[in-house]
Amino acid sequence: MKVLVTGGCGFIGSNFVRLMLRTHSDWSVVNLDKLTYAGNPANLNDVEGDPRYRFYRADICDAQAVAAAIGDGVDAIVNFAAETHVDRSISEPEAFLRTDILGTHVLLEAVRERRIQRFLQVSTDEVYGHVAEGSSDEAFPLAPRSPYAASKAGGDLQVLAYRVTYGTPVMITRGSNTYGPYQYPEKLIPLFVTNLIDDQPVPVYGDGMQVRDWLHVDDHCRGIEHVLLHGTPGEVYNVGGGNGRTNLEITQRLLALLGKDPARYIRHVDDRPGHDRRYALDCVKLHTLGWRPTVAFEEGLAATVAWYREHESWWRPIRSGEFTAYYRAQYAGLHE
Ligand code: NAD
Ligand code: DAU
Repeated sequence: MKVLVTGGCGFIGSNFVRLMLRTHSDWSVVNLDKLTYAGNPANLNDVEGDPRYRFYRADICDAQAVAAAIGDGVDAIVNFAAETHVDRSISEPEAFLRTDILGTHVLLEAVRERRIQRFLQVSTDEVYGHVAEGSSDEAFPLAPRSPYAASKAGGDLQVLAYRVTYGTPVMITRGSNTYGPYQYPEKLIPLFVTNLIDDQPVPVYGDGMQVRDWLHVDDHCRGIEHVLLHGTPGEVYNVGGGNGRTNLEITQRLLALLGKDPARYIRHVDDRPGHDRRYALDCVKLHTLGWRPTVAFEEGLAATVAWYREHESWWRPIRSGEFTAYYRAQYAGLHE
């Protein structure tokens, strides 16, 4: 199988490329990535010499570049490419609409024209919005509440419309909050771990009682692989970890793993505007198809903390680059 992966230099995409090359000796992977602030070629240093791997630096909104990456054909496209950080979508939403909606459209057109056999859109539980009680299954109404979530929902609706209108062989996965190695340190877990390694406080939005369902990146990648190989065209599959935790619980756990006193490091800061209080996924559909998460949360979190401790050479250059201006603006006052 020849797979075009978009956004393969980001967090989940790079873990997916590595895992697929390791698992399937007969697969080749073309990675198309724009290398935004979140894309880092170093995430895939270890596969660069593999003859089954090719990298194109390009934008998914650029139809010609997408056609060049497809070359004489691919069997499947897996679309990870997106603007992904909710806080950035609140301050600068435009790039989200462009990549997450228009970019998805450009890829769908390529799939349609080239008659590619599979298109898998990597989406998110955030499209369901705040889930007050119970859990959202795939038929749950879409009610996105941030520009990021709305742009992802817009992409999903384009994907489903192509199925109805053109019969395009599409599938969607909606994953929950993912953690593990190579995650850009703007997101909760790597931000807090790297702050604590540097003996800095951690900014908890509002009361910290918001709930997220945590999923290890390897489990997320295996879920996507499972849908790619066994899913039914036109269907949506939730991919959740089954580890609902409040942000304060996560924070306390990270402090314990890093041996820090909570009273000294936790800072409650202004809440995120429109902050979704709770996400919870019903994953019966994907469980029935044969996928289950395998990484125990406590172990996965401890291993992730250990990875960041052991890979300062990966995250220090990131935190001293573009990140510095973003961090100052986002967390003004935190260090006063
Ligand atoms: P990320 O921000 O770490 O990586 C995104 C990648 O996409 C980067 O390499 C970036 O350079 C690339 N990219 C951005 N715009 C592009 C464009 N116009 N053309 C080509 N490449 C572009 O993101 P991630 O956390 O790895 O998320 C990957 C996908 O999974 C996204 O679609 C996201 O919505 C979805 N998702 C993420 C999570 C999570 O918790 N991280 C959970 C569920 C779903
Ligand atoms: O649910 C899936 C989504 O998970 C993905 O679609 C997104 O791409 C990904 O970024 C993530 O979105 P969240 O907004 O849930 O992740 P983030 O790590 O930004 O925040 C997790 C929770 O922690 C959220 O309730 C906000 C809170 N938080 C986050 C940051 C960065 C804080 O309290 N303080 C912070 O500094």
